[in-house]
Amino acid sequence: ITKIGVFTSGGDSPGMNAAIRAVVRTCAYHNKQCVAIHRGYQGMIEGDFEEMNARSVKAIINRGGTILRSARSLEFKTPEGRAKAYNNLKENEIDALVAIGGDGTFTGAMIFSEEYDIPIIGIPGTIDNDIKGTTYTLGYDTALNTVVDAIDKIRDTASSHDRLFFIEVMGRDVGHIALNTGIGAGAEEILIPEENLGLDRLLESLEKSRRSGKTSSIVIVAEGDNIGKNVFELKDYVNEHLPFYDVRVSVLGHMQRGGSPTCFDRVLASRMGVKAVESILDGKSGFMVGLLQDKMCLTPLEQAVKGHTEIDRELLRVSDIMSV
Ligand code: F6P
Repeated sequence: ITKIGVFTSGGDSPGMNAAIRAVVRTCAYHNKQCVAIHRGYQGMIEGDFEEMNARSVKAIINRGGTILRSARSLEFKTPEGRAKAYNNLKENEIDALVAIGGDGTFTGAMIFSEEYDIPIIGIPGTIDNDIKGTTYTLGYDTALNTVVDAIDKIRDTASSHDRLFFIEVMGRDVGHIALNTGIGAGAEEILIPEENLGLDRLLESLEKSRRSGKTSSIVIVAEGDNIGKNVFELKDYVNEHLPFYDVRVSVLGHMQRGGSPTCFDRVLASRMGVKAVESILDGKSGFMVGLLQDKMCLTPLEQAVKGHTEIDRELLRVSDIMSV
């Protein structure tokens, strides 16, 4: 291996820049060349490459987003698109890849490495924390802190006006962000994809909390929740059934994906970048690096993309007890 390509793909997450930096610098440390591929698989198809050195990644460890930018490439889903990508890699003498992204990115990587002889190692970068083979994905910790900060601010105004807020947080398929920030910010109820609290129990719980003397409440709703109503429909439903509540909705949206990474995410990114490059140099391919029991480890990509990580059910109980 003489030249390693690195790219980010899919939804961005805080810490991706720190991971790019770690990959580039680990290559420099081992006297290997490193090439940045812009805009993920699409940039690979278009030959959008840039030679990197240890200095090209200065002052990015603290920056959110991804300096390499990201894209969802439809062309890479076709055999012709992948053939173009491979030819560009060969022309530029790139002989291995580090892919930073989520399950879509890894699915693409698996197909590509089955069709062509090119070693690929993945680094899990997504705020959703939904990838198997790592306790934490890159950006998740930062997103938790961003969301808790936003909920704290909403709580200030909720309590000034005796209001009930439905706050929608990200998590299309999993409730990790909702569950952890809900507990961290003291939410009344937390609605997640993995559980269906049911509308009756939601109303009961809100009624009970009003009776117990609470004047304002926060309900956290994961975007992929299972209750069958989105936040705006929930507001209407509660307005209709519990008219004493003054209800408001806040959808946090993409602000959850931005911002400077926490120290935890920066350290995680650095460890993952080192592990990814050194795994390639050790002759590994088709694995994702991850953190399990505080140790860096490798999981086959096909296992990483199979299903989603489960929520910790103890947290559901803790949340229940806290909202007594
Ligand atoms: O990064 C993952 C995620 O944040 C999901 O929770 C969300 O559904 C999705 O990205 C939205 O991303 P986009 O707007 O880029 O499609």
